[in-house]
Amino acid sequence: MTSTPTGPTIGVFDSGFGGLTVLRALLPLVPGARYLYLGDTARLPYGSKSRQTIARYAISSASFLTGQGADRIVIACNTATALALDDLRGAVSIPVIGVIEPGAQAAASSPSAHHVIVLATEATVQSRAYTRALNALGLKATEKACPLLVPLVEEGWTSHPVTAEVLRIYLSEALVAAPDATTLLLGCTHYPLLLRPLIERTVAELHQPLTIIDSASATAKAVAASIPASPGLTTQPTCKFFATDSIEKFQRLGAHFLGHPLEKVHLLDLGG
Ligand code: DGL
Repeated sequence: MTSTPTGPTIGVFDSGFGGLTVLRALLPLVPGARYLYLGDTARLPYGSKSRQTIARYAISSASFLTGQGADRIVIACNTATALALDDLRGAVSIPVIGVIEPGAQAAASSPSAHHVIVLATEATVQSRAYTRALNALGLKATEKACPLLVPLVEEGWTSHPVTAEVLRIYLSEALVAAPDATTLLLGCTHYPLLLRPLIERTVAELHQPLTIIDSASATAKAVAASIPASPGLTTQPTCKFFATDSIEKFQRLGAHFLGHPLEKVHLLDLGG
């Protein structure tokens, strides 16, 4: 009797909805997988918290997904990757992939990359994880904390004039610090997709030709490359969603990030 081949079970987590941009990029690349997505919305934002707290949150999220059968973990959050990747790799016994290394690699392979501006949360910038990763690839880095962007995206103000002005200020300040910048790396999973059109418009208005890179699609490619091809697998992915706060809000906002409705979301209590 031949057994049906089973695909990988990929556990993906973020502090909230942003990581759905990674999941969205993954679905067509690894279609035979079973996906478990956890949005730790009750404890969002991670970006303004300490390293110890972020590591504790990340370990509890990843441990939950491992308990649900995940055989690999994708940290679909720049902040959790920057502050907790090593702690997480020490805490779980399955492969863990974060977003920073793939994002830095993608920036390095962009045309004429030399000096990269990274837009990210306060905690990611303070960790200097992107600067280390980009310097190791021979690139200059200027990191810019953008603490107002996540709340504006959460509010749904992705093309609002207030968001446009906030972005213009952040980018202008970053360009003063990095006038020779060639590349703009979106170092937060809240920024690709929903904010990208506004970011592109703002970059054009500032007359600085920057190549825009997002770590979400680069990470999806890295995850796909780490999974051996399994001929005979079903090509229909399955997704199970968990959130630690309002199911209704997760379904409503999550549908924008994912690009299609989320049928069922399970409410989860991971503590404080
Ligand atoms: N998704 C997080 C990231 O990529 C940002 C949101 C938060 O601050 O929790 O950094």
